[in-house]
Amino acid sequence: MPTPQLTILAVDDEPNMRRLLEISLRQAGYRALSAGNSREALEIIQQQQIDLVLSDLHMPGMNGLQLLGTLRKVHEHLPFIMVTAQGEIKTAVEAMKLGASDYILRPFELETLEVAIEKALAIKRMQQENTFFRETQLPDVTGLIGNSPAMHSLKQMIQQVAPERATVFIVGETGTGKELVAKALHEASPRKSALFVAVNCAAIPAEMLESELFGHEKGAFTGAIKERIGKFELASGGTLFLDEITEMPIQLQSKLLRVLQENVVEKLGSNRQIPLDVRVVAATNRDPIQAVQEGKLREDLYYRLNVVQLQLPPLRERRDDIGLLADFFAGKRQQRLSEQARLCLQQYAWPGNVRELENILERAAILAGQQPIQAQHLPADISQHPSETATETASAAESNMLSIPRTTEAMEKRLITQALETCQGNKTKAARLLEISERSLWNKLNQYGLR
Ligand SMILES: Nc1ncnc2c1ncn2[C@@H]1O[C@H](COP(=O)(O)OP(=O)(O)OP(=O)(O)O)[C@@H](O)[C@H]1O
Ligand SMILES: [Mg+2]
Repeated sequence: MPTPQLTILAVDDEPNMRRLLEISLRQAGYRALSAGNSREALEIIQQQQIDLVLSDLHMPGMNGLQLLGTLRKVHEHLPFIMVTAQGEIKTAVEAMKLGASDYILRPFELETLEVAIEKALAIKRMQQENTFFRETQLPDVTGLIGNSPAMHSLKQMIQQVAPERATVFIVGETGTGKELVAKALHEASPRKSALFVAVNCAAIPAEMLESELFGHEKGAFTGAIKERIGKFELASGGTLFLDEITEMPIQLQSKLLRVLQENVVEKLGSNRQIPLDVRVVAATNRDPIQAVQEGKLREDLYYRLNVVQLQLPPLRERRDDIGLLADFFAGKRQQRLSEQARLCLQQYAWPGNVRELENILERAAILAGQQPIQAQHLPADISQHPSETATETASAAESNMLSIPRTTEAMEKRLITQALETCQGNKTKAARLLEISERSLWNKLNQYGLR
């Protein structure tokens, strides 16, 4: 994978100054190009993707202001920072009027330069996002963050099917937002004043699931000391969300199918039929067709549930949404992201999808404190993208690569993901393979947002 570096063009007629700028920019993690005069700069900008221009004011031939003026005719939003001397505030103001993003006064610290660059890039991004929102945002009642084409059509589907009673089957990897979509369907439906009831078929012991769903009469079985209302009845008039449906015991699946076909439910130990008005939404993080083939999901039940299917794409297939989601989660904690951190996030494969992203930003926000979130606040396997520049500063190298907790964490994550893949998501087997208890596997999955 190529390094997700932003390219900055430094324009200065002073060879020493050019070299210094190039070195500083590379140290800050950017790809640096340089030009000795404005003409050369314009040529480079025409030929290459440049993300920001850093230009000196005084140059023989076309000066910095003239360069800016010429550029603005073609590249309206290309970030441009003017470098001027202490006594030239007036010209700096002039540059701002002409559309410079910022100016810095010579001599400057590397940090001042970095802050100015981050700010200019952030403004550019906001401009882009705003135009994008204005042009493409649909009225959005789903509360789902995401502007990728896949998310757009998902939101559209949600609004179309929400008002119907039709069963919806939601398919998607872990952490892609299946439960959130189920809730969105409920909220956008006329049933929203009644209850949204979720049942996780994997989390409830098989022998208890039946009475959990359908309820029981007092004395229906040993231990049934009083009458119990089932989740179907509880969700009456509302929505019942059957999560991880492929984990439901197969005999119970037949009973569920009958209930769905007849729209009545009988409590265990009773033969009184209770009529139902429930919208059922089911979900799985497995491939449902494969689950049918493996005998984990009854085919007839699958067809009954699959009236409308909503597929949630994994995060790595909609990388455009990563930045938006990251800003959202950081914003929730009054935090913001540095460009480098954002680029690292955009590169990572996200096996735990949005949940993992949310957990990672939550921890990064704590680590960063008052500062913007930087790459070094992210776990090692995210911050260390493969081809880091050779000039990466020693301190960054230390904080990322030599940290025992971070490296251990990265390793643990990889092993857990592998074990789960090998065991097709079966956590008992995976824990055995990893030689840890199932409880500590659960803890780690939660901690790393891989659940
Ligand atoms: N598009 C989105 N916008 C905002 N938040 C999201 C989005 N998708 C997921 N999330 C958040 O990510 C977390 C995980 O989502 P959710 O629980 O719905 O995933 P899931 O697909 O049900 O996962 P699992 O298969 O592990 O149960 C939640 O905190 C949810 O609010
Ligand atoms: Mg879920």
